[in-house]
Amino acid sequence: MDKFVVTGATPLNGIWEVAGAKNVALKMPVIALLTDSEVILHNIPLISDVFFMLEVLSSLGVKSQIKGHTLYIKNGHVSEITVPLEVGARLRSSSLVLGPMLARWGHAKIPNPGGCRIGARPIDRHVEALTAMGATINYNSADGYFHAQAKKLRGTTIVFPKNTHTGTETIILAAVLAEGTTVIENAAQEAEIDDLTACLNLMGAKIRRVASRQIVIEGVKRLSGVEYTIMPDRNEEVTVAVAAAASGGTVTVKNSQPQFLTAFLSAFRQAGGKIELLEKGVTRYSREGKLSATDIVTQPYPGFMTDWQAPWAVLMSQAYGRSTIHETVFESRFSYVKELVKMGAEIEFFDPQVPNPDKFYNFNWSDLTHGNHQAIRIKGPVKLHNAVVTIDDLRAGATLLIAALIARGASYIHGVEQIDRGYEKIEERLVKLGAKIKRLTSDHL
Ligand code: EPZ
Repeated sequence: MDKFVVTGATPLNGIWEVAGAKNVALKMPVIALLTDSEVILHNIPLISDVFFMLEVLSSLGVKSQIKGHTLYIKNGHVSEITVPLEVGARLRSSSLVLGPMLARWGHAKIPNPGGCRIGARPIDRHVEALTAMGATINYNSADGYFHAQAKKLRGTTIVFPKNTHTGTETIILAAVLAEGTTVIENAAQEAEIDDLTACLNLMGAKIRRVASRQIVIEGVKRLSGVEYTIMPDRNEEVTVAVAAAASGGTVTVKNSQPQFLTAFLSAFRQAGGKIELLEKGVTRYSREGKLSATDIVTQPYPGFMTDWQAPWAVLMSQAYGRSTIHETVFESRFSYVKELVKMGAEIEFFDPQVPNPDKFYNFNWSDLTHGNHQAIRIKGPVKLHNAVVTIDDLRAGATLLIAALIARGASYIHGVEQIDRGYEKIEERLVKLGAKIKRLTSDHL
């Protein structure tokens, strides 16, 4: 269990190169299961979730190799149909093998997927949609596995009752080799989905986003290999933009994608953040003097994404006035609040009155366990001070790291492996911006 010792308060200044997108890099290796030809993927971030995902493929008998930031998978032919519990339960994207396994081999046995502890995160929408395509999928609570089989997946119209990012990806991955045409209604719109689609189409798939929330997939007989470069990570760019403004510094971000950050950029500007689009793929972030309290409500993309709300909370702790964050996508995504309060933040929970919560919230209302809160009120600006804090999930980790950078004194951050899941060499890259961070590995402690 590594930890960081972070000494603030230091403004961050310099240049940051955004790495490849985690939420693409976790899905792309699965496309290898759809072909017997070689798949080569560039711009893969060296984060632990990627290595966990390669272990999922390896448990199916599919070998892979990473050289630099390029992933090579020679052949996607599986020799197993089971993803072992201890391998699949570590990350959310392990369930994405379902579609390709059913499409090519007609069988799969996968555990309940894991991932950040930010809610129940069931895959009921994935299962219902695959069932509509002709699969039989049963969850056996005695062994903790989904047992799935399908003689042949058939194209059909899938209407997702609520937005699901990996659910949409699951059906795309299942439909590309299915018989006939599949139409996905109420499809998720995250840009990462379109990156996956672009890569699959280069392999010979026929996938079109015909309207903002409608995707049509015509099944084909087989797919060829591919060499592809994945998109940069939007969530990393947002994290760095917040760190620059919250610390009172100026950071120029390379591999920037403002076209996929509209909701963030408008809130950031409204809060007093400064955005300079220097050239294509290069954006400079800082702040114009005082920050002002700015309320946000998270929404499925293209709304203000749930992955951005935790870092946003730190920015609001430095803003003048009271701001609110209303989280509508996950039912338990405020684990960082108690830790920020230890550092002096003034944050309280409250539950906004919502006329029809089951419809309004993206999670299944029935998954809301007792005592969860969906909104927080932040009073600022406050001078944060050092503390010993613990990270519960990836974005909470980045948030506490930013807070420690702007707090006075030396803070100790436990659970750093959570940050390593989604940010490559984060402390080395922050040190280049002037941060004072030391990683203490377990043998130090
Ligand atoms: C993906 O999670 C991302 N993870 C998340 O990023 C991201 O926050 C989320 O999409 C929204 O963009 C990956 O891509 C690996 P959903 P996913 O299916 O697919 C509920 C990060 O920090 N739901 O859109 O799990 C679900 O529990 C991570 O990078 C069901 O109830 O998100 C959630 O409350 C965190 N049943 C809501 O819907 C289902 O079958 C949205 O889930 C599917 C989802």
